[in-house]
Amino acid sequence: MNNSTLAILKPDCVRKDLIGQVVTKITNTGFKIRGIKMIKLTKDSASGFYEIHKERPFFGELLAYMTSGPCVPIALEKENAVEDFRKLIGATDPQKAEAGTIRKLYAENIQENIVHGSDSDENAAKEIAHFFSRRELLDINGF
Ligand code: RTP
Ligand code: MG
Repeated sequence: MNNSTLAILKPDCVRKDLIGQVVTKITNTGFKIRGIKMIKLTKDSASGFYEIHKERPFFGELLAYMTSGPCVPIALEKENAVEDFRKLIGATDPQKAEAGTIRKLYAENIQENIVHGSDSDENAAKEIAHFFSRRELLDINGF
């Protein structure tokens, strides 16, 4: 499966009232929304989600940031979804992100960078399952 990816509009995106603008950029790029919700991550859920980074020096700060307010996970579908979405969001550090990317347009710094995108098909499947049950993933006909 190479047509799914998980986006998260992170707490800074929600705080800055940028949900609408970021979703518009995502759908204008051809992504279809299969699932969307607003939730506040618990520390446990955030540390499970970012488990691969648990030895990194920024892990504590990352958890504090990701649990600082509500976020909006979105299950997305498009051909070549993972790569195309990473291209749309730009580099982790907004200063290094290409012009026109979501992080270049809206992100503050390397941590508060507005949006998450899965980095592989395998992780996309795991990350979608982290936030959505099968019943919460729908196509345009409601299936
Ligand atoms: P993401 O997983 O959220 O899509 O971001 P990414 O792949 O571009 O970057 P990754 O290396 O996976 O890092 C995950 C998130 O941790 C925060 N971070 N802080 N202070 C720092 O040096 C630092 N480095 C990364 C960011 O919020 C990053 O998106
Ligand atoms: Mg990552």
